[in-house]
Amino acid sequence: MKLFVSFFGMVCLGLAAAFYVGFGFLFSGQPAAQDEELVEEERPYVLHFSHVVAENTPKGLAAERFAEAVQEKTDGWVDVRIYPNGVRYNAQEEFDALKENEVQMIAPAFSEITRHDPNWYIWDLPYLFSDEAEVQEAFEGELGGELFHSIEQRGFKGMVFWDNGFKQITLDRSFVIYPEDAVDSRFRVMPSDVLHETFERIGGTTETYPFNEVYQRLGSGEIDGTENTLSNIYSKGFYRHQDFLTLTDHNYLGYAVLMNPSFWKDLPPAHQEAVNEALEEATAWLREESAALNEQALYQLRYQEHMHIYDQNELEKAQWRRALQPLYEKYSGIIHEDVMEALPAAESPYAEQGPHEGS
Ligand code: SIN
Repeated sequence: MKLFVSFFGMVCLGLAAAFYVGFGFLFSGQPAAQDEELVEEERPYVLHFSHVVAENTPKGLAAERFAEAVQEKTDGWVDVRIYPNGVRYNAQEEFDALKENEVQMIAPAFSEITRHDPNWYIWDLPYLFSDEAEVQEAFEGELGGELFHSIEQRGFKGMVFWDNGFKQITLDRSFVIYPEDAVDSRFRVMPSDVLHETFERIGGTTETYPFNEVYQRLGSGEIDGTENTLSNIYSKGFYRHQDFLTLTDHNYLGYAVLMNPSFWKDLPPAHQEAVNEALEEATAWLREESAALNEQALYQLRYQEHMHIYDQNELEKAQWRRALQPLYEKYSGIIHEDVMEALPAAESPYAEQGPHEGS
């Protein structure tokens, strides 16, 4: 009898375990565990990812690719939820939300990071990088390493760099080809002192408004112009209030994907590996596609009847570099020397005549 009771008990326990593993997903809405080890260790993770741009932009599309890849690689155990267009936080609010673990991942523009770490001013120095290859060299080389080291001291985990592209200038009344063309115009810039000083040095004034407010502020006439990438100018409709687009490529808009360090430490190693792989894939895709996405936006902008477009030449760029040379001197003293020295040689602002002078 005793033997029968214990045999019956074991059968019941076995059935209960099978029910839990096999059908648990149906009732809990969570992914099914794959083996006994996972039953003990696994729990679902939700990774909230906030960003401020539209879904059809380089960053918006890379975020979606990343989320899909994580879903696939973790069988749904890490669920990435994306909040685009600043629906939860504007770019500066995102940093607090990340620190508070209200979101676990953000991908702010370099200029936004300068509020938290002045070493990131380096990206905003005008005409420092002259093409995508130089930017990639900086991402992958010593400069990228120094900047991630620096941001980690401020409580953020740096994961990867994401591309967008070079910035261009829009204005309602004229092209901005020579420095003096900016005189008396009001430009919206991101919250970086280097960007404010760039436009102020050439006679303009500046305002920092969150990205989501720029369209409306252009419409109401509170600002006259913007500087941004073609994909942002097009996807946010800035061009509707701007008749002139000058292709200046005056500095680079890239992103640092940042994570909450405690959330990262809490992730089991297999999930960390999956997140890293998914980021690598999304980053490689973006590296290939971001230039094409900006080209497509340029094509759409050329198609607008009211839009006049001018491509600034090297001699015109040289005039800007000359006018803005004092910025290099000033910020070389603010950005940490290890970061300045990590700049690839071709971009050194210490060159006698300024970067790329005479190129
Ligand atoms: C972004 O690309 O993240 C926003 C850029 C901006 O605020 O102008």
